[in-house]
Amino acid sequence: MRERDDDCETAMVRSRLALHKPRASGLILAGTGAFLAFGLSGCATGPNAPGHAEFRTPLPIPPLAESHLDVKGRRVFDLETRSGSREFRPGVRTPTWGINGNHLGPTLRMTRGDRVLIRLRNALTEATTMHWHGMELPAEMDGSPHQLVEPGEVWSPTWSVDQPAATLWYHPHPHGATEHHLYTGLAGFILVDDSQAETLSIPSTYGVDDIPLLVQDVAFDDNGALVRRKPWYNQVGPLGRTILVNGALTPFLEVTRDRIRLRLLNASIARVYNFGLSDDREFDLVATDGGLLAEPHRTRRIQLSPGERAEIVIAVQPGDRVALRSFPQELRSDFANNRFSGGRDTFELMELRARDVLEPSPPVPNRLASIPDPEPEEAERTRHVRVSSRTINGRAMDMARVDARIAAGTVEIWEVEGIAVPHNLHIHGVRFRVLDVDGVAPGPELAGWKDTVYLDPDVVTRLLIRFPHHVSPDVPYMFHCHFLRHEDDGAMGQYLVVPGE
Ligand code: C2O
Ligand code: CU
Repeated sequence: MRERDDDCETAMVRSRLALHKPRASGLILAGTGAFLAFGLSGCATGPNAPGHAEFRTPLPIPPLAESHLDVKGRRVFDLETRSGSREFRPGVRTPTWGINGNHLGPTLRMTRGDRVLIRLRNALTEATTMHWHGMELPAEMDGSPHQLVEPGEVWSPTWSVDQPAATLWYHPHPHGATEHHLYTGLAGFILVDDSQAETLSIPSTYGVDDIPLLVQDVAFDDNGALVRRKPWYNQVGPLGRTILVNGALTPFLEVTRDRIRLRLLNASIARVYNFGLSDDREFDLVATDGGLLAEPHRTRRIQLSPGERAEIVIAVQPGDRVALRSFPQELRSDFANNRFSGGRDTFELMELRARDVLEPSPPVPNRLASIPDPEPEEAERTRHVRVSSRTINGRAMDMARVDARIAAGTVEIWEVEGIAVPHNLHIHGVRFRVLDVDGVAPGPELAGWKDTVYLDPDVVTRLLIRFPHHVSPDVPYMFHCHFLRHEDDGAMGQYLVVPGE
């Protein structure tokens, strides 16, 4: 069960060091060759290496969380964070954390117009929080570092769901420890439904042709415990070479209908995935972070950085066996950083196995949702946000400092720039639009509602953001890099929503 997750990287660094030894030109050539070979091909080791994956486990589908209506008509969910263990590989038990179970959490399903109440009990031995990523709600209910839940305590946020149908998610957010809490297993989906999306003929039977996929990379030590390794030359954060889908290693899914919708969530610390299918077939991208696109986008790849989501619809033929794969990514970083950020890696994630006879489902409609054109003229001001690995605008996160005071309901343009290496930006409490990237209007994959966006290093990404209406005099919302090592190290800021004039 031994597995060295960093073998390729170590070999690569050795070959780079060899470049500086002037002794034998043969060595220099060999080193250069190895450098180019590793740099161009990426690593092909581990259980998810193409050609090695075995697809033996049925894909686990997170259960739908039970809920009931209370006397005030609120939909009540009971959640408990606790410790447990899971057998990721046969015969090895790994200590984990989970929500209402040993590892990961149930799917919370809610409809626009619902009033929800969550009763979160923390049965861990350390304080945590629970953040509803992508949810538009008052800052007090957001589960940010300011809403710590001590061991044994219950936290009961409540809000009204008022946003379009979307794939959201939840995870802890304790300051400085988000990476640890999420990595150990605290994460789950939130599916928001609305009456408009319900009338669309896209696959929507949960667990049958509408499948949530939570993707995380992990690494284990010799005892099977989860570990996070970040070699010094890696600037993005720990990367594992074992990829879990809903907590399972290379699972398979039996497909019974001729179209299937996958809700992809990158719940990794630092790894970016470029999703596609092993036979390179096309699929329809139908939704991004904040909801449905105006129309489906036919493509072969969808790249997601940590925290981002996408929904795709794939057409399958009877008897098909096709793998969901992560291909080399477009990080747009320099050669070495691209390589050391996992940018050249390819992984087999899971297999779709179609039955020999499939139930028919209608094609994806040409119109999905009405999304207003972004109107930059509405913006009342422009703000510059520079994201580094430990700071935003040169300042590390300070729980006691507010970085921006923004009038309720106003619109701003944020000019965001990630410095030198891969970063992204997630803004709490809002859904935003991408105006342009380095002056160029975004492609279809960034044309819909977003709450997290990858930042091409050293270029400006402009966002158009309408801020929340809910005023909180002293509870801020967060904005931060969702590469969790960066977030924990200080690449996070706080904005306060103040009354307008
Ligand atoms: Cu998904 Cu502030 O986090
Ligand atoms: Cu970052």
